[in-house]
Amino acid sequence: MTTTSQLSTRHILGIKYLTVDDIKLILETTKYFKEVINRPIKKVPSLRDVTIANLFFENSTRTRISFELAEKRLSADTINFSASASSVKKGETLLDTVNNILSMKVDMVVIRHPSPGAPTFLSNHIEANIINAGDGTHEHPSQALLDAFSIQDKIGSIKGKKIVIVGDILHSRVALSNIYCLKKLGADVKVCGPPTLIPKYISSLGVEVEYDIRKALEWCDVANVLRIQLERQDIKYFPSIREYSQYFGINKNLLNSLKSEVVIMHPGPINRGVEITSDVADSNQSIILQQVENGVAVRMALLFLLAAKR
Ligand code: CP
Repeated sequence: MTTTSQLSTRHILGIKYLTVDDIKLILETTKYFKEVINRPIKKVPSLRDVTIANLFFENSTRTRISFELAEKRLSADTINFSASASSVKKGETLLDTVNNILSMKVDMVVIRHPSPGAPTFLSNHIEANIINAGDGTHEHPSQALLDAFSIQDKIGSIKGKKIVIVGDILHSRVALSNIYCLKKLGADVKVCGPPTLIPKYISSLGVEVEYDIRKALEWCDVANVLRIQLERQDIKYFPSIREYSQYFGINKNLLNSLKSEVVIMHPGPINRGVEITSDVADSNQSIILQQVENGVAVRMALLFLLAAKR
């Protein structure tokens, strides 16, 4: 149960900055919007007078479409900006770009940016509500919230559940946001991956490390499997993709040899055959597409709750 009906913040910059009550309120509100998007008429007028700018300075499929759809379902007016087709290419700064867009009377900004802290920087300079849609290797709060909602939807309360995050923890904003969110909700969290891809500070977040994928899977209720982010790796962190798959890849034979069934998650995009095989990604144990469906409802909840703070 939640004890509040309003968020404690005007922006969603990271899970680190949300209270437990904020997270519970978002997850409760998501339940309502999940019911809305499964109705024959999926649209509600809640954000009819709100204009939202989706500013994507980095590639995205799921997050971008999910926010756009959430905004349309709430009847907001939206504008979409892609850095690759903008005057950023001509040398315009982030603040100039955003101030120009805001002068067209925009109320909220959803921003994805390769630089950690870009959404926080903006929140210190502009009036609009900001939602971080992923900032470099820092945080991806809406992903962590949809992951938490999906776990709760599948196996009930997160408190006391055992969750392992597998893969490239060092470069993953999904891992960091998930750790903050799951710990705040009372889960027991481990990470698993090559030692070179586990950050040194990880134990300070209350997380244990398991280097043996079989032991990690034997221990957990849920495995959230991450992609190896080669685009963020400036040095070689492991000998080869083939060796990574051999030691940390999740395949059906491995899952079938475990004593109990593990729920498999992945934020996408998937590299099939690297961190996860197709027979796992497409199996009944996988809730990957439910995560995507729940993403729209979570983002509707975030936009709705932030609009109430305007
Ligand atoms: N999960 C996620 O952030 O996917 P995209 O990069 O496609 O948005």
